[in-house]
Amino acid sequence: MQQIQVCQSGDLEEGGTGYRFRVLYNSEETTAFIVRVDNEVRCFLNRCSHVPVELDWNYGEFLDDSGRIVVCATHGASYDATDGSCLGGPCDGNPLVRLNIEEKDGAVYWTPTELITVPSDGIED
Ligand code: FES
Repeated sequence: MQQIQVCQSGDLEEGGTGYRFRVLYNSEETTAFIVRVDNEVRCFLNRCSHVPVELDWNYGEFLDDSGRIVVCATHGASYDATDGSCLGGPCDGNPLVRLNIEEKDGAVYWTPTELITVPSDGIED
């Protein structure tokens, strides 16, 4: 499928605020987010594997003070921000859903799949 430009590289600081955008997951409207960890962009569905609610504790705030761990705002499940794997808490071994993301030429691009697609009214959150 065709790549979609989501944001600029400069929108993402190492271990900083995530960039949210809208997606359709299994035809359901939800959001995804991108963070930069170890100077690589990482992208996940904004949905806890414990209960399908958004993860951020303030808009776009996903990472703990280490800048490497995503902590769910609802019950504190923690995930490795490099790969989305569950580190502890109610995620019970279940990872975050990853999205295909690529950084090139100063921008960040997402490649939709059959499961995670572009909403008809765009990705801007
Ligand atoms: S909803 Fe995320 S830890 Fe329970």
